[in-house]
Amino acid sequence: MAISRVGVIGLGTMGAGIAEVIARNGHGVVAIESSTAALEHGREMMENSTARAVKRGKLTEADRAALLGRVTFTTDYPALSDVDLVIEAVSESLELKKAIFAQVDSIAPPHAILASNTSSLSVTDIAVATQRPAQVVGIHFFNPAPVLSFVEIVKTVVTSQEVVDEAVGFARSLGKEPVVIGDRAGFIANALLFGYLNHAVSMYESKYATREDIDDAMKLGCGYPMGPLMLLDLIGLDTAYEILDTMYKQGRDRLHAPAPILKQLVTAGLRGRKSGRGFYTYEAPGSPVVVDAVDTETVELGETRAIASAGVVGSGTMASGIAEVLAKAGIDVVLVARSADKANQAVTRIQESMDKAVAKGKLTEEERDAALLRVRGTASLRELSYADLVVEAVVEDLEVKRALFVELDRTCKEGAILATTTSSLPVIDLAVATGRPADVVGLHFFNPAAVMKLVEVVRTVATSQEVVNTAIALCRNVGKHPVTCGDRAGFIVNALLFPYLNDSVRMLEANYASADDIDLAMKKGCGYPMGPFELLDVVGLDVSHSIQRTLYLEFREPGFAPAPRLEHLVTAGYLGRKTGHGFRDYSS
Ligand code: 3HC
Repeated sequence: MAISRVGVIGLGTMGAGIAEVIARNGHGVVAIESSTAALEHGREMMENSTARAVKRGKLTEADRAALLGRVTFTTDYPALSDVDLVIEAVSESLELKKAIFAQVDSIAPPHAILASNTSSLSVTDIAVATQRPAQVVGIHFFNPAPVLSFVEIVKTVVTSQEVVDEAVGFARSLGKEPVVIGDRAGFIANALLFGYLNHAVSMYESKYATREDIDDAMKLGCGYPMGPLMLLDLIGLDTAYEILDTMYKQGRDRLHAPAPILKQLVTAGLRGRKSGRGFYTYEAPGSPVVVDAVDTETVELGETRAIASAGVVGSGTMASGIAEVLAKAGIDVVLVARSADKANQAVTRIQESMDKAVAKGKLTEEERDAALLRVRGTASLRELSYADLVVEAVVEDLEVKRALFVELDRTCKEGAILATTTSSLPVIDLAVATGRPADVVGLHFFNPAAVMKLVEVVRTVATSQEVVNTAIALCRNVGKHPVTCGDRAGFIVNALLFPYLNDSVRMLEANYASADDIDLAMKKGCGYPMGPFELLDVVGLDVSHSIQRTLYLEFREPGFAPAPRLEHLVTAGYLGRKTGHGFRDYSS
């Protein structure tokens, strides 16, 4: 069957986007809404979106006119009497969807396929409201539908294979990459996305970090196109609430119980970008322009301490990377390693890294030479006695770090700031090993430190405001983007990232989808730079397992328990790319 005419029911954010994509690909569209006002609003969204596409050179004015000309806007269901496919995209209410499907079933021609764009409700429940359940399928698009190329095709236990094949072919004809999966709440992408989004909301709600810092952390730390709170505004907080609520009711996973503030915002009518306000305030309803974001790069800081000289303890990649960053910014650095040899190796690594930067045109030879003169390697902690700041980047072992902080406390001058780059240990444990806990702060750099812009500035219950201010100012001075958070396992990025990676492993374990399909879903459906299994293999499964275990032990969330498959791979020595085998085999 050739699909040439398609009905789209519901012209909200998703429906309007879906209608646009379909019409753009040459199909006739019957676009249906329940009221004239809603219909007009849907038409406006399509007009605005296609006008933006013209402005961006993605569409010619003539093609835009042809696209809009292919759409019949109506409130009359009988207009669906000659379509080949109907895609429903109304709000996430099972009763509403069932009623619509029953009605459409009585109007659409017998050959027509009926599809739902539901993101979390059971397609099977919807299918049985019709007399043609074998012709009912899920076709789940991602927001913004004209931009994101992934589509989930949901096959219920009664959907015929022929219908699934038709749906797959149709999605491909729209330039989308479809993946066929079973009927489970959240399918692939939402099931992995919404636990993360909900956790980010809880962080914001508990004032663990600001909305800007949470969003910036995930953009800069993980390369996501949007931070979680701004993405929720795009999705719509009402939609997000419904998805989480449905997922919670199906799985009873506490991590999916919608964070209370979501409900409050929805009740207050603050439904995100479409209503002009959600976590952020927008120029106008539907506008992507935020008007109340704080520019965290320039926000005024109170008292700070001067940092002219610094020490870095450690000789690994983090230590040399941090020393390089500080030296390039004009700070004198003493790098202390366990032996003179190790110190020399670290300094050589810094030189090689700077040579690369020169070769790439990111640094001049003069800048490199001046920066290298500022770095000195040594095996003696005593040389840190004049440093204004010492950054510790030794092995992630609490006893080793604690012993070092005792030494630093003895050695460093009064007023020197003692910082740790730990990614998983409590900073307060190190602070209380010293007689100056107010001067101890976390400075969590990301690897490679010379490249990654993000630094998490971790404030313990004892850190003074002046020290936090100094840490923020230092990050700004050395060209990094600081975000501030409390002293909880995983800080912002790891706490939000690793449970999602762990959930992906659980999904694989449950044989719901393949690693390739899951990776594709997150890259093409959410714009992530890497899929979860690609990332796990790069980070290392031992490292990932250890971070996930730390999170589990701190939060005691059953959902954070490391997935058995992850544990087994680590036990087998399959640690990812570094051993040639992880979730994928890299040996050949
Ligand atoms: N037609 C064709 N192309 C269009 C277009 C249209 N109507 N509108 C925008 N584009 C193009 C733009 O021209 C631009 O392309 P270019 O980079 O080649 O110029 C590209 O799309 C991006 O558009 P913008 O420049 O306007 O916007 P940004 O670069 O700021 O990106 C974003 C915005 C695409 C939303 C990006 O931030 C993103 O991908 N965010 C993640 C979104 C996400 O995760 N979605 C999934 C949510 S979950 C979901 O939808 C499931 C549901 O069930 C809830």
